[in-house]
Amino acid sequence: MARNVVIVGAQWGDEGKGKVVDIFTENADIVVRFQGGNNAGHTVIVGEEKYVFHLLPSGILHPGKTCVIGDGVVVDPEVLLNEIEVLKKKNIFRPEDLLISKNAHLIMPYHKKLDVARERLRGTNKIGTTGRGIGPAYEDKVSRCGIKCGDLLNEEDFRLKLKANLMEKNHYFKTVLHEEGFEIHEIYHKYMTMAQSIGPLIKNTSKFLAKAIEFKRNILFEGAQGTLLDVDHGTYPFVTSSNTVAGEAATGSGIGPSRIDTVIGITKAYCTRVGEGPFPSELQGEEADKLREQGGEYGATTGRPRRCGWFDAVALRYASRINGLDGLVVTKLDVLDNQDKVNICTGYKYNGDVIDEFPTEASILSRCEPVYETMDGWKSPTHGVKSFDKLPKKAQAYIRRIEEITGVEAIMISVGANRKDSIIIKNPFK
Ligand code: IMP
Repeated sequence: MARNVVIVGAQWGDEGKGKVVDIFTENADIVVRFQGGNNAGHTVIVGEEKYVFHLLPSGILHPGKTCVIGDGVVVDPEVLLNEIEVLKKKNIFRPEDLLISKNAHLIMPYHKKLDVARERLRGTNKIGTTGRGIGPAYEDKVSRCGIKCGDLLNEEDFRLKLKANLMEKNHYFKTVLHEEGFEIHEIYHKYMTMAQSIGPLIKNTSKFLAKAIEFKRNILFEGAQGTLLDVDHGTYPFVTSSNTVAGEAATGSGIGPSRIDTVIGITKAYCTRVGEGPFPSELQGEEADKLREQGGEYGATTGRPRRCGWFDAVALRYASRINGLDGLVVTKLDVLDNQDKVNICTGYKYNGDVIDEFPTEASILSRCEPVYETMDGWKSPTHGVKSFDKLPKKAQAYIRRIEEITGVEAIMISVGANRKDSIIIKNPFK
């Protein structure tokens, strides 16, 4: 029986989805990115080689698997071509294995400039975006003036849409932001040149996926960012501009929700966040520095140091509910190997009460104080361990406690960056 599996981040992104997708791609025929854009940074380490994918599905390293950039993604064609170029140089790019939805929207040069300019205007209220033009591209999509990948295939249509956009955008740049606008011919020629390379990859991917489902192919849907960055369910306004939750796997790839069999959430054994916004279990000072250094917690896209903190079970329970999680992958357990004590945030103190429901209002969440349950650290290496029962007993207890409090079973534990550093308890495709 074929299985269609969704993998989503259960925290604020950077949970290690790239590695997990890469591993489970073994069992999939097709890997689909369904939202976000090159704000993502999915790291896959194979042997000595490290790959960071911002736009290409992490399954691209596996020969014979089809990778799809779905309808809900926003595509910066320049970034896409650069990623393809890197793979071509290593002789691992097969054009027949990559499809880009004609419905996916394009990130245009003015989106990137707007993203950066808006952040500057927000000053101390900034969101801390990746500056890749993600928000403005989704804004145009929702305002119904966006330009789609499919428009690259029709020069005249593309030029007219670009012209209409530039009339409005250039006016805004000049009068509101006091910045230079864009020349139509420059963007037009640049995008038409890129269209020659990516044009043949642009397809009706929803139809392709429907056929694949009919023929009982296994499909892996690869989410980007994390549940708490979801535009509807995250810590708004400190969120990204797309739906990052499991439901989007259907909408963002053009299949019906009934076709999804399993939803897996990825969580680190602790918590991190990049950019601004509330983070109740955040650590400061030396404790945070220790986690950051041990976990190599620097953004794969922007290089920014990530904020670090203890595992937040309140947030994870919430993520479980919003996504309907069937299983959990706990990553980076080895990063906690040297801790004397480990804390799990089990509730929030707010206005004198202890609450156990995750408030999405940034103003409330920022005033929540974590209530911790403390466990002994295991103080011995988990790196290199191949099965759950070979993990130090206290590390096993930590995972069991996470399962108990969140109500979701762990199906895989990751104890290092490499593919081989993975303890698979249950394969979602089997
Ligand atoms: P944007 O997606 O660039 O608009 O950024 C909005 C917020 O989402 C910022 O706080 C970013 O740091 C965060 N963000 C976006 N993409 C990722 C990601 O892939 N991992 C972690 N945080 C992200």
